Amino acid sequence: MRILTLDDFETKGKTVFLRVDMNCPIDPVTMKIIETSRIRESAESLKDLQGSKVVIASHQGRVGNKDYTGMENHAKVLEQILGRKIKYVEDIIGTEAQREIKNMKDGDILLLDNLRLCAEENYEFSPSDASKTIMVSRLSKLFDLCVLDSFPSSHRAHPSIVGFAHVLPSCAGRLVEREVRKLDEILTVTKGPHVVVLGGSKVVDRLEAIKELIISGRADQVLLTGVIANVFMRAQGRVKFPLGIKREEEIVAKAHSLIGEHPDVFSVPVDIAVDRNGKRVEIDVRELAKDDQILDLGPKTVEYYLKSIQSAGTVFMSGPAGFFENENFKFGTESLLVGVANSFATTIVSGGHLTAALKRYGLEAKINHISTAGGALVLYLTGAKLPMIQVLEEAAVRYRSK
Ligand code: 3PG
Repeated sequence: MRILTLDDFETKGKTVFLRVDMNCPIDPVTMKIIETSRIRESAESLKDLQGSKVVIASHQGRVGNKDYTGMENHAKVLEQILGRKIKYVEDIIGTEAQREIKNMKDGDILLLDNLRLCAEENYEFSPSDASKTIMVSRLSKLFDLCVLDSFPSSHRAHPSIVGFAHVLPSCAGRLVEREVRKLDEILTVTKGPHVVVLGGSKVVDRLEAIKELIISGRADQVLLTGVIANVFMRAQGRVKFPLGIKREEEIVAKAHSLIGEHPDVFSVPVDIAVDRNGKRVEIDVRELAKDDQILDLGPKTVEYYLKSIQSAGTVFMSGPAGFFENENFKFGTESLLVGVANSFATTIVSGGHLTAALKRYGLEAKINHISTAGGALVLYLTGAKLPMIQVLEEAAVRYRSK
């Protein structure tokens, strides 16, 4: 491997900074965690760090968004998963966090608060500049080793991701190790046509990534679902009123130019399902009314998408096709996942929602690789060098040249 792993270090008795990604879907009303697979994945490296003092750090949501919370509930879930005590500290870089870290004993696990409460964590830096931030300069002297295990945020050059690794001996955690190994193995042997089934809510990120995926030859066909499909339907003029999403006009204009540049690549739904008086109603996209909420794909769209999936050499699916948590609107997500699972293609499915859906439908074993990442994975597939992988490679070179 071009990066170091936990196998390269003696971790017993060491104080370890473990950057994970516990960014979970949050219920906007109760603020409870809806889906915990990322916390479960984050626990994996801890098995190899039993004799260390482990300081876990993660972000949750984005400042100003409805899923932006502290990490108290994450600590409780992690405690249940591990059956071990997790000390949650409502601090990140202050005197309380520093004192608690200094007082840790071998075998202790401490979880810091949401890293994005610290202003610096909301900006991108070069590794060298990140190492000079207050966060990294205050905390790095307390650690012997930095373990980066937040594959879903490996595309973010935030201080916790590129700063500590610039100044400390550093390696990948078990999740990053598994993702990189498996993806590299898959990407060297995949064949076309490459079919991408793309949904998800981070539309701005997705639009950038789609362009790169097409240019890098990893997307011969893009079948759109979810909010991003709605944006393209507006760009095509088939939905005639605003959808009420942030920065909508700018996003729709981008979608419009992508369609213009790559007219044969994109497929958008022709029919959809909406909720009318608590019932699933399937309509043609042109019949959509202003107050309708699009909650699923319709049968014609699913049939059409399944044909593309069946003739693919590689399928990458990210983001659910509808509100699958509700029985009335699971049809699109379940049908597409069954199609992906039964296809002869090499298959990659990504993101917490789809991971949960695969589990629910008993399809996990039929997928070549299930990734916890969303946006980071899309970028990884384009061949882009992600900031986390870059710093891990640099740390490996430093370590091996000693
Ligand atoms: C994700 O969920 O994709 C990662 O946690 C990164 O989150 P971000 O897009 O808010 O940086």
